[in-house]
This record gives sequence, structure tokens and C-alpha cells, in this order.
Amino acid sequence: MSNDATWQRFFTSTDLAGLEELKTAALQTIDSLSSIGDAPRSSLLPAELHAAVRDLEVCPEEGISLAQVLDEFGSVVWANGVVPGDPRCVAHLHPPTLLPSVVTELAIAATNQSMDSWDQAPVATEVELHLMSWLASTLGFGANGTGIMTSGGTASNVLGMTLARAAAANRLGVDVGKSGLPPEARTWRILCSNQAHFSIQRAAAQLGLGREAVVTVATTPSGAMDLDALDQALEKLIREGLEPIAMVGTAGTTDLGVIDPLLGIAECAERHGSWFHIDAAVAGSFILSNTLASRLAGIERADSVTIDFHKLWWQPFNASALVVSSEDVFDLLRVRSAYLDRGDELEGMVNLVGRSLDTSRRFDAAKVMTSLRTVGKSNLAAMVERCVALASYAGECIERTNGLELVATPTSVMCVFDAPGHSADDLRRVQQHLLASGEMVLGRTEIHGRAALKFTFMNPSTSEAQIDGLVEKILKTLLVLSD
Ligand SMILES: Cc1ncc(COP(=O)(O)O)c(C=O)c1O
Repeated sequence: MSNDATWQRFFTSTDLAGLEELKTAALQTIDSLSSIGDAPRSSLLPAELHAAVRDLEVCPEEGISLAQVLDEFGSVVWANGVVPGDPRCVAHLHPPTLLPSVVTELAIAATNQSMDSWDQAPVATEVELHLMSWLASTLGFGANGTGIMTSGGTASNVLGMTLARAAAANRLGVDVGKSGLPPEARTWRILCSNQAHFSIQRAAAQLGLGREAVVTVATTPSGAMDLDALDQALEKLIREGLEPIAMVGTAGTTDLGVIDPLLGIAECAERHGSWFHIDAAVAGSFILSNTLASRLAGIERADSVTIDFHKLWWQPFNASALVVSSEDVFDLLRVRSAYLDRGDELEGMVNLVGRSLDTSRRFDAAKVMTSLRTVGKSNLAAMVERCVALASYAGECIERTNGLELVATPTSVMCVFDAPGHSADDLRRVQQHLLASGEMVLGRTEIHGRAALKFTFMNPSTSEAQIDGLVEKILKTLLVLSD
């Protein structure tokens, strides 16, 4: 039988020798990134990627050297991904990442604090709570505002809807976590705009309400929720004996980046006693900018808000948060467990498991905080403003380009356009050709049934000239492929 020393070398250690080994391995990992080329993605096709990856033995009988593993990962894996920071990588809300977060990821993994209980994460719990208090107060919540980190906007929206459902049951004196849905749940409805993210529907499905419990409200031509349509939808629900348990405003829709009239929805939710949730996964960081923050007026009146740090806050995945108006709200979720959260701990030993749908959870708050502290609010605000300005510039560029047409005037970081006289299939071929050749990772979507191409600007260092180049390339490809 092997002794300890055989395996010890595989572990991270924070003694001096261990840290030296970590440094060496970290430098090798960094070197392995040098195989990433100067393109938004490699031009390898699916079959070639499949073959290259299948050549890597997953778990060899005898391990192989870390240097070799890292080297192979560099040439097979890192070299063949997409490069979110490349100015030609403009399809999704997929950001380049801030350096302080990337290096903090190493410390998060090396120290492996688990956020479920205080005894596994004493100082990490304080860091997450500190970050959440700052976020809640930045959004305009009162002193009791707090939140919890989650794995993404989808998870934050599901958690927000879980709280809304629990609050509705609580009003009937029912603990939904304990007894399940009361008969009245058949009448419960969630209202959001027809541009809201699909995770709201997914939440309704998971919560036993069903996707049909989500009532989608019409939008104005700009893509924002139409408040008259909201009133009409509510009148109809009430006439039918249905109960609006939640209203969801979107602050930055996925395709057009449009912000719903949050104040109007807040008033409506208050009138009807509904939970008010805001999905600010996309535009939440507008709050940092003196010129953009006013667009989020009303956010401070929400019961819960989704913020995605892994979008326009430039964090590596995963980094999202659900912000709530008061920590008491989490009592609706709480499940005690003898091994993790007994409730008899010393004063101040908070077990965050009671606020989350996860049990073990990463210390993602650490990387968010090292970045925010390093970059600072004014730089972050300027970066968000620059991305918005780039989308605006792209809009002007499309407008002066014969052969392309804007679907909507950009107001956020996206620019959506099509090519009059060309079919949806032509647009598909352009986007697929540019992706397959590795020349551009371009977005493709549908707005009110109209096929469209989409830029999403997540890199504030992109130049106007690079945007001119993207538009030119798309036009050329369209002409060549439609011949
Ligand atoms: C408005 C909105 N909400 C939620 C999400 C889901 O976020 P995530 O991918 O972090 O789960 C997205 C994703 O783009 C989004 O655009």
C-alpha cells in the first residue's frame, strides 16, 4: 500500500513548498494559454474537435505529468475555444474577464471554502454578506437589503420566483415548502413582458405552477412592457378570479437590451399586493453610471432583483446574485438540517445554506470583490457607458450601409439588424459561415418573428474601426453567399 507521500503531491498545499509548486503549475497553465490564436475562434469544425478531444484519455491507469496534461489541454482545448475578448466575438452576453477575478479564481479553488455553513466558510461568509449589502445599498435598498450569490441569472430568477411563490402561500397561512401547493395555487399567475427571459417560464414549470401560469404582457414598439397592456391583463385576470402573485420587470432584455418601465410596474405590483421581481441580469450595472442609472428608477422598490456579475461586470462564470429587500425574506426558504444548520450556533455564525437553493456553493463573492476594489466604480461605469456607445455607433454604421437595416435603435449593448431582400436562410448562412470559418462569432435571433443578426458589445476596448470592419465583412459575406 502506498504511503501518504504518494498522494500528497497531487493536493494543493499552502505551506511554503506547496505554494512554490502552485506557482510553477500556475505559470505552466498561463503558458498553455499562449496557444490561443488571434481569432474569435479556431476554424476547426465539429468533427475535428470531436476527434481531437476523444484522443485525450480521460483517466489513464497511471497518471501523466501535469506539464504534459497542461500542454495538451493548451493545444487541444484552450486553443479551440471562443475568445470572448476578441472584438469579432459579438454574439452573446459573454464577457472578457477582469484580471483580478481570474487570479482570484485560483485562490478560490486552492482554499475551497464552501458557502453553505459558517464552519466551512467563516470569513468567506462575511465577504459575501459584505458584498451583498453593498450591492443592495447601491441598488437603493434600505439598510436591511441583502442577497445571495447564485450560479447565474437563471438560478437567480428561479430563486426570486421561489420566494414569490412562498410569499403567496404564506399569505394563506401555508408553508409551501412543507405542505406543497395549496388548491388556490391553480389561480396563481406571474406577469412579465413577452420579451422576458425564458427562465421565468422555466421557474414556473419547476415550481409546479406550470408555464401557462406565466402571462406575457405585450410590449411597445421599443420592446418595453406596455403599461396599458399590463393593466388590461390584470383586469382580465381579476375578472377570471386569478391572482397575480408576481410581476417581473426586465432591466435589459436579452435581444434588444430594453428596460421595462420599472416604476410603473412597481406601482402596479404594490396595488395588487404582488411580489415585484426585476431581472436586471443584463443592465444591472447601469446603476454605477451617472448617465445610465436613471433608466433603472424603481429598482429600489423591488422585492427581489437578479444581478449577473458574469455579464456587464466582466466576471468569469459563475457569478450572479439575487438581491432582496430584507434578509427576513429568506425565512420563507429555510430548511434546518442537523448536520449543517441547526440554529443553535454562536451569535453571528450565519449559515448561508438557509438562503440558497444550493447546498455546497463556491466562494464567487471573492473574485467579484477583488475586481470591484481594483477597478473601482468610475472605471466600471465608464466601461459600461463605452459598451452602450459602441452599440449606438454600430447602429449608425448599419443605418448608413446600403443592404443592411436596423431592427431597432440600440439603447443598450446590442445592435440588431437584418438585410432587406434577403431571407432568414441567407442570414443563417452568413452567421454559420462566419462561425465555421472562425472569422466572427455573430449573434442570430428573431424579433417578433423577424429573423435578424445581432451584435452584443461586451468589450469596451473595441474600436469604431473594428465595428466598421465587422459590418463590411457581414455585407461582403452576404453578397458572396447569396450569389
Ligand atoms: C435578461 C436575462 N435574464 C437571465 C438570463 C440568464 O442568465 P444566465 O445565463 O446567467 O443563467 C439571461 C441570459 O442571457 C438574460 O439575458
